[in-house]
Amino acid sequence: MNIRLAQRAAALVPSATLAVTEKARALKARGVDVIAFAAGQPDFDTPAFIKQAAISALERGDTKYPTPAVGIPALRDAVCAYFRQFCGLDYAPNAVCVNVGAKDTLYLAFQALIDPGDEVIVPVPYWVSYPEQVRLAGGTPVFVEPDANLKMTPAALAAALTPRTRAVIINSPSNPSGVAYSADELAALAEVIAGSDALVIADEIYHRLYFGQQAPVALASLPGMFARTLSVNGCSKTYAMTGWRLGFAGGPQPLIKAIGQLQGQATSGPTSFVQTACVDALTGDQTCVDEMRAAYRRRVETMVAGLRAIDGVDCPMPDGTFYVFPDVSGTFARLGVSDADGFAERALDQAHVAMVSGVAFGMPKRVRLSFATSDQQIETGLARLTKMLS
Ligand SMILES: Cc1ncc(COP(=O)(O)O)c(C=O)c1O
Repeated sequence: MNIRLAQRAAALVPSATLAVTEKARALKARGVDVIAFAAGQPDFDTPAFIKQAAISALERGDTKYPTPAVGIPALRDAVCAYFRQFCGLDYAPNAVCVNVGAKDTLYLAFQALIDPGDEVIVPVPYWVSYPEQVRLAGGTPVFVEPDANLKMTPAALAAALTPRTRAVIINSPSNPSGVAYSADELAALAEVIAGSDALVIADEIYHRLYFGQQAPVALASLPGMFARTLSVNGCSKTYAMTGWRLGFAGGPQPLIKAIGQLQGQATSGPTSFVQTACVDALTGDQTCVDEMRAAYRRRVETMVAGLRAIDGVDCPMPDGTFYVFPDVSGTFARLGVSDADGFAERALDQAHVAMVSGVAFGMPKRVRLSFATSDQQIETGLARLTKMLS
């Protein structure tokens, strides 16, 4: 039988980051020793005390539907405490929700906000799921090109705003660039947004993974922004919990309520004992986060120094995350490739180093390399790339 899919399913672009991970996995399965710089997740295991909290919850019989759908009260209280402690944001429990990963939070937020024809501003380079999620909600992503530092300028934002703009996405620190906006830069963007009717989707899921002395400023903490910002966050990156699928957000109560109602019909919310364990993650000993951040700080130095030493590679130092996003266009002629797709393909086939082409993020001269892998793997991967490009 010919299965006719709905247009929205047929038009979906598969996630490029998952595609390259899959190709690397297939090579590995054939016995090839692949260095994985492609993954978007910490290489660390989830800290033991969080696992133990889930095991204890299971043993206590925490196996029923979680209620209410918007998130169990204990976790929503923990989310409020977390936002207060780490973001300086004071949300009431009915102004926060927990979802099946921040990806789900974002998906539901776009479903709640967007009608056909509405526009969402997506700064380039962007996380691969933003444009697809906006389109799935019937909206139009409006891409804004960055300045030389890979940041959206207030002028570029102002030029992109229209009466149809429903939301502006600000992802800081950014996947894929690792760039974080300073407080002043955010304030300048906030001033432009304040003159419009747009909401802000502040995706701050990497906010604890920073390399400077101070954590990036939460956008909603800026004057006038709290009432119009959805602050999106989660446990995946901060606590090495990608497989647990737990995201959360704080924002305007009507939006949070709508996200909860959508979730009630879609999934009934994140797994019950995962929610219980995440209370411990958010409110327990945070030493694990400091330790992981210290490891990423060490690795970023190795990664950036190694890439900068390669002729034709221009690698900015990221402010946070576990990604670098170098411009590799200076090597294209030597390799006989025309864009980052070709570069990433050659790196995988020839050097057995997996990375994600910047084409997926809207920047075809760049590639994203993740250093959420061991120091030894980083050294080996860099040596292979150096050899391939020498
Ligand atoms: C910028 C950004 N936002 C959101 C997510 C989603 O995270 P999760 O669904 O694991 O909470 C990711 C994951 O890669 C990300 O990089």
